[in-house]
Amino acid sequence: MTAYDAAVAQWRNDPEGYWLKAAAGLAWSRPPSRALDASQGLFGRWFADGVLNTCHNALDRHVEAGRGAQTAILYDSPITGAQLKISYAEMRDRTARLAGALAARGVTKGDRVIIYMPMVPEAAIAMLACARLGAIHSVVFGGFAAAELAARITDATPKAVITASCGLEPGRVIAYKPLLDAAIGMSAHKPDFCLVLQRPQAEAAMTAGRDFDYAAEEAAGAPHACVDVAATDPLYILYTSGTTGKPKGIVRDNGGHAVALHHSMSMIYGMTAGDVYWAASDVGWVVGHSYIVYAPLLAGCTSILFEGKPVGTPDAGTFWRVCAEHGVKLLFTAPTAIRAIRKEDPEAALMRKHDLSKLEALYLAGERCDPPTALWAAEQLGIPVVDHWWQTETGWPITAGFRGFGLFEPRPGSGGKPTPGFDVRALDSEGNEVPRGENGALVVKLPLPPGCAPTLWNAEQRYREAYLSTFPGFYDSSDAGMVDAEGFVWVMGRTDDIINVAGHRLSTGAMEEVLAAHPDVAECAVVGIADALKGQAPLGLVVLKAGAARDADEVAKELVKLVRDRIGPVAAFKEARVVQRLPKTRSGKILRATIRKIADGETYAVPPTIDDPLILDEIAGVLGR
Ligand code: COA
Ligand code: AMP
Repeated sequence: MTAYDAAVAQWRNDPEGYWLKAAAGLAWSRPPSRALDASQGLFGRWFADGVLNTCHNALDRHVEAGRGAQTAILYDSPITGAQLKISYAEMRDRTARLAGALAARGVTKGDRVIIYMPMVPEAAIAMLACARLGAIHSVVFGGFAAAELAARITDATPKAVITASCGLEPGRVIAYKPLLDAAIGMSAHKPDFCLVLQRPQAEAAMTAGRDFDYAAEEAAGAPHACVDVAATDPLYILYTSGTTGKPKGIVRDNGGHAVALHHSMSMIYGMTAGDVYWAASDVGWVVGHSYIVYAPLLAGCTSILFEGKPVGTPDAGTFWRVCAEHGVKLLFTAPTAIRAIRKEDPEAALMRKHDLSKLEALYLAGERCDPPTALWAAEQLGIPVVDHWWQTETGWPITAGFRGFGLFEPRPGSGGKPTPGFDVRALDSEGNEVPRGENGALVVKLPLPPGCAPTLWNAEQRYREAYLSTFPGFYDSSDAGMVDAEGFVWVMGRTDDIINVAGHRLSTGAMEEVLAAHPDVAECAVVGIADALKGQAPLGLVVLKAGAARDADEVAKELVKLVRDRIGPVAAFKEARVVQRLPKTRSGKILRATIRKIADGETYAVPPTIDDPLILDEIAGVLGR
């Protein structure tokens, strides 16, 4: 029996014992007497009678154990040239002061705080300060437009917003404050106050009485102690794309989250306290929440916070420079980043300029990793390259390779085996398990393990409908794929209209809502088409209203701008085409899958239910396929 099999057996035979043992790795004000309380929540609640504070576990606990001088956050910004090492003691003190400043302005346990910040250490400090108070943070990714930020402010009704004057993209300064001001203007809810981190690249104008200087507030804050919270109290809300324009507010609890992430650092990534760990993502995404901020700090590691891109800041050697300079032991990024590096440095000449002897493994997630990319990275780096599958909803990997158990033989294209705690199956549309090796809907038998979202913010019914109703007794991941004869899971793609662009999760439904709002558009369809660099890219097809005598190129340009203005640059919506008609079934359903196949140049069967097959040729003609 392998170590992996033994762990799975332990968990299956005694889930209570398995999770209580994992929970014992943390400091509790009141340790939980049991792991799962099946009587609570949608599928049970984890560690329901436990009391703890996540910030205490991430910072104070390590200082008390003698790690105060160790670097907790290592900020490296090739865009500005800045580097900063913040020790655990400094992180604790800065976080305690910011928590004090927030409390002095009225933020208390259970209040929401929106954090709209670029990749600066203050973003992590702001998250942890909220955790310290038992306040619920909601980080909004900087690449979203004002309207998206406004939707989150309206839904989360925050008492405060913490922001920065700007974010930095290569060659471009993005002023955040005007976006925030516009969002607050649009939102039905108004925060009591905003803290603004002034960065030298752009000075933000302040609204008197509402906006306060972040640095001054943090410096003057009276250090605040960690506030006890129930394990089931929310730590954060993270909005992610759903099938409509209204994002889903994924709720993360304190106890299950801390237990799962702490456990994952040793079991999945093989990290111990003092190791240098780097997740090259953004704090605005779940990977950033879990593996830039919380998990590495819960495990007493040094976490790299990188403000840059895999290419262009300044070149495709940046990742390797960071790994070498800071002694990174494990790098976690999205396959897109590796594809971007490979495109610019196919022979890995820039990689070879750096001493990567400390780098032991590369983990990939966020989108399906194409085998050539994984194989290239493994060959050039000479270390294991591990694909692992997860979602914002789960907060940590559903399937993985496990350094803590010795890694599996590489299977490029597979996301590894289920993490102990996740009972993964592939089901047919009737809810029956399909034979091993056949494709189906990938589901997880309930209960979901600790760390997974127990509900959606203010939308429990939506959670039921989105995840629990299709296959009663199972969580529907909305991913399709198979479990093979040896138990490896192969994730092939989404079953809904979510697309994955450069590892960013986007809703084609939300883009369609924007296109449909254009005055000349009668109907539209957005599909995700194959993109060599970003995995997928959105393509919009629109039919103009009768009598809209407009130049097609002009309308297309307006539509591209509209999506950028309403959703944000991160939507990467660059292509809209005007067509005469959209292919539909006789009952009026748009045949999006067929459009996608035409755009990708794949062979396709003419759907038997199609209203008029000739439309397919028209579409192919417009797309030049
Ligand atoms: N704030 C403001 N704008 C942002 C932003 C942010 N935080 N992040 C991205 N954008 C903008 C980009 O500047 C770009 O704008 P443009 O259309 O004017 O060029 C647009 O959003 C699209 O961004 P992206 O899809 O990331 O493309 P890119 O061309 O800028 O970069 C890669 C391509 C491959 C380098 C980049 O996508 C990357 O680093 N990918 C890794 C993916 C990743 O880390 N995913 C996180 C999940 S693990
Ligand atoms: P997000 O919620 O942004 O993390 O996106 C989750 C989605 O990304 C999943 O539902 C998958 O469709 C996709 N995804 C993430 N990781 C992988 C992976 N390793 N392999 C295949 N798809 C993945």
